[in-house]
Amino acid sequence: MKREVSRELVYRSRQPDNLEGPRQVFDASVTPVEAFFVRNHFDVPEIDAESWRLSVEGNVERPRELGVAELDDFEHQTVRATIECAGNSRAHLGERAQGVPWRDRAIGTAEWGGVPLREVLDEVGLGDEVVELIFVGADRGTLETNDGGQLEMSYARSLPRPKATAEEVLIATHMNGEPLEADHGFPARLVVPGWYGMASVKWLSRIIAVDQRFDGYFQTEDYATWVPEHDLVVRRPVGPMAVKSHIGFPIDGQSITAGEAVVLRGYAWGGRGNIEAVEVSVDGGKSYEPADLAGTNHPFAWRAWEYEWVVPDEPGERILCSRARTGDGEVQPDHHDWRRGAYIVNAVRPVKVVITGE
Ligand code: MTE
Repeated sequence: MKREVSRELVYRSRQPDNLEGPRQVFDASVTPVEAFFVRNHFDVPEIDAESWRLSVEGNVERPRELGVAELDDFEHQTVRATIECAGNSRAHLGERAQGVPWRDRAIGTAEWGGVPLREVLDEVGLGDEVVELIFVGADRGTLETNDGGQLEMSYARSLPRPKATAEEVLIATHMNGEPLEADHGFPARLVVPGWYGMASVKWLSRIIAVDQRFDGYFQTEDYATWVPEHDLVVRRPVGPMAVKSHIGFPIDGQSITAGEAVVLRGYAWGGRGNIEAVEVSVDGGKSYEPADLAGTNHPFAWRAWEYEWVVPDEPGERILCSRARTGDGEVQPDHHDWRRGAYIVNAVRPVKVVITGE
């Protein structure tokens, strides 16, 4: 696809193209489309909206093929949701981390508009035995498996039935009030609020209702972690977002003036439960104080926070940290847990500032 790359985005890999947002991502509660990161595993498929069809099949009573016009017949809904790539921030983990080297801006928040998935599932009638729904994108390509084989495949991910039928999950056709752009899944994509981005399948072409767990490539080889379960260790797909926060101002390496009053600010988010508190440390994580939560709470979007700080008089370096907690008591950890590989990188991220004389 010929892409007019917004000057705001930064390439992290080419063919397939993966682009990270600019620093300004942390300046607005809703991310403009041109500043929204792009994560593609294959080339962007060229889709003609007139002939595009979404097939809903498998263990359903009334299989259907929906076009753009049929989707329009359903009632539409808007959900503000933050989407973060499961590999966001992995560049800070060093060489051991495999995958696209995202810094901290493979994340964005949009007003997603479209049809609640459960309306469509109600219409086709899920069989009683259905445990998962598989979502298949129209993009295809060849990837190497860990035993060295080359296989052609589509991008596909599944959701367990309870999440697929939750009210917030959308077949989205709009982003910030405009039709989706090709990079973000035109003409329709799944949006799974509360889950890492890999679940929000773009360029939807099929939804398949199945009676067993789906073991597709993008949830066993990729986007999966080893999890201890009943004395065994099992491979499980990455799912809900872990609690995390980010300091948007000041940025790493920034100079600030001694003795000045400044407002540190950023965002905090998590997949389960609202952000209940954010704390800030101005002494490298030795001690923390509460920050103020700002703006309004949207259950699936990041929450702004602020902290007033009188910069000390002594010039030199200082390490700032932020740490978030959800209503469920989930707290951002101090260190990365390598059992997750280079996914779910939510440890407290130190930011160094340089205090200069007045
Ligand atoms: N859907 C398809 N069909 N193909 C993809 O490569 N990438 C996934 C998800 N949906 C992907 C996809 C991943 S890993 C992420 S993080 C999000 O899309 C990114 O969405 P965005 O490109 O709109 O930011």
